[in-house]
Amino acid sequence: MSTLTPTSDPFVALSGDLPGVTAIAPEISTQPQLVDITKLGDLANAFFRSLPGEDVPIPHDPVINLGSGRTPVLEPDLKIAATTPQPKGSGAPITELTQPHEPSLALPQGYSASLPKVGATDPRNSIANGAVARTPFYFFGHATEFPDAPGGVKPVPLENLVTSQSQTFPGQAQVTALLKEIANTGRQPEAQEANASGQTFYFLDSSAAPVEFTQSETLAYKEIAPSAHPQFDVNAVRRDFPILQERVNGNQLVWFDNGATTQKPNQVIDRISYFYKHENSNIHRAAHELAARSTDAYEGARDKVAKFLGAQSKDEIIFVRGATEGINLIANTFGRQFIGEGDEIVVSLLEHHANIVPWQMLARSVGAKIRVIPVDDSGQIILDEYQKLVNDRTKLVAVTQVSNALGTVTPIPEIIDIAHRRGAKVLVDGAQSVAHLRANVQPIDADFFVFSGHKVFGPTGIGAVYGKLDLLNQLPPWQGGGNMISDVTFERTLYHDAPTRFEAGTGNIADAVGLGAALDYVQRLGIENIAKYEHDLLGYATQELLRVPGLKLIGTAKEKASVLSLTLAGYSNQDVGVALNREGIAVRTGHHCAQPILRRFGLESTVRPTLALYNTCEEVDRLVAALNRIARGQSEIRGR
Ligand code: ALA
Repeated sequence: MSTLTPTSDPFVALSGDLPGVTAIAPEISTQPQLVDITKLGDLANAFFRSLPGEDVPIPHDPVINLGSGRTPVLEPDLKIAATTPQPKGSGAPITELTQPHEPSLALPQGYSASLPKVGATDPRNSIANGAVARTPFYFFGHATEFPDAPGGVKPVPLENLVTSQSQTFPGQAQVTALLKEIANTGRQPEAQEANASGQTFYFLDSSAAPVEFTQSETLAYKEIAPSAHPQFDVNAVRRDFPILQERVNGNQLVWFDNGATTQKPNQVIDRISYFYKHENSNIHRAAHELAARSTDAYEGARDKVAKFLGAQSKDEIIFVRGATEGINLIANTFGRQFIGEGDEIVVSLLEHHANIVPWQMLARSVGAKIRVIPVDDSGQIILDEYQKLVNDRTKLVAVTQVSNALGTVTPIPEIIDIAHRRGAKVLVDGAQSVAHLRANVQPIDADFFVFSGHKVFGPTGIGAVYGKLDLLNQLPPWQGGGNMISDVTFERTLYHDAPTRFEAGTGNIADAVGLGAALDYVQRLGIENIAKYEHDLLGYATQELLRVPGLKLIGTAKEKASVLSLTLAGYSNQDVGVALNREGIAVRTGHHCAQPILRRFGLESTVRPTLALYNTCEEVDRLVAALNRIARGQSEIRGR
């Protein structure tokens, strides 16, 4: 294990952003302080070296002398020896790690009170005490919690936990105590000078951070830092997305294909990179440190998804590859359990193929019927017709919250209310809504909600299903394998409850963690701020596009989000897309995996610019100017 090397100047300014410090010692969190870097480094070394369950070697004489300006207070020979942690015994059963024990070292005053004890920070013990709900995850403190998330967090099943000191910030209590001591000595004048670089530090400073933890990573991991974007500053947001600086055909990229996938901020890119550099392990299955880190990170991400969706419990969140897999999961579990011959499944004409085909497959195999809610000429669901479709045979209503082809925001609360009055369950497809609108499953009383991470600034290959817990626990598993069982014999298998029951095999751990970072990002900006910004941008784009000769907008519902499906008279959609690409503007052309709704408008395809939080009026102007050139025959484009 690498050690922390003091900087050439043994004193550095320490910002107040240390996890947990604000809550405990607010007075020291607001201003830079002089810190004896050597001692802090030694202290940190001791904790980073120690393994779960081991005593933490503390410097012999760690009394901090802060009163003498820049004079180093530790003699070089007092530095901690690079000791290898001594295992407690080979092949020790996991239960041994969970036994609370006292550190064997006699600790000097000021340290002894709060040294992390395995037992004290072990969620299994906390569960027994009923206090696990707010256990901080590895490197992340409570300040990352979503302030508006209702309800608490339920513990993951006991047998799924491997825990260690990584459950809390290593040495957090000691550092807090040390900082309190520093605060009591008063602010040192040199602190200003030491902080003149403008740097802020996660732990000590960038050079002293553990194991290749570079400054950019360090800063990226200050998840407790307040938003860099008070209210909504699109220019600041854009700086978070490096790909927006790409040049395509000599022009700066304009990414208007957000309906297909969104771009990723540095916060997500760095988080995934950090996972592979420092946490990578399979989850739930081992007694070692990295299993604890990855489990913390993965379950922490589940917690973030739960809060993002307004779920009651993290157990209501199942990780899947994306919305498509989520819908298939519900079809193969809820569908097979509760939908039979003669039953009916209601979908809308707006649906993506992913919310049509799985129901067709189910209906064909069990003998159920699919009924389709029509839409009006604006592309909005006709609620009166829907009401007529729902009856006592309706077992499930599966509807999108935002149409990927038209942008229509559907009246989900009314749809759910009508379904529930007939005893039907409702699945909301949030694939196109989560990046643009608040998805709060409890007030709307959704039974199921699915979304894809990559449409909300997270990675591809990860998404989530929300399901009400009592409902999920009535459903059979849909894939068998490891992780989802509690006991297997050749005669029978016992399954875990949700969510693990539905997560057979090794999942996409790193990308789940990346998704958590994406949701943190959205949460920090504030989804309402995003929605308001995008609403105005969509209004501006609509107004400007309608001035382009021959341009027709497909989908003109009063409530819309993100999508500007269009056709341009005299030109094929494909050719318009190619011409826009020549100017660096990325849009999707084609049927958008939503053929039924396009055919409702007599079309097989459209050109589809889709907006997201980093798009600007200037980019809309570039799109409009390019379309004007095409419409006026000034662009190199074939006629139809
Ligand atoms: N469903 C994605 C889209 O609408 C791929 O483009």
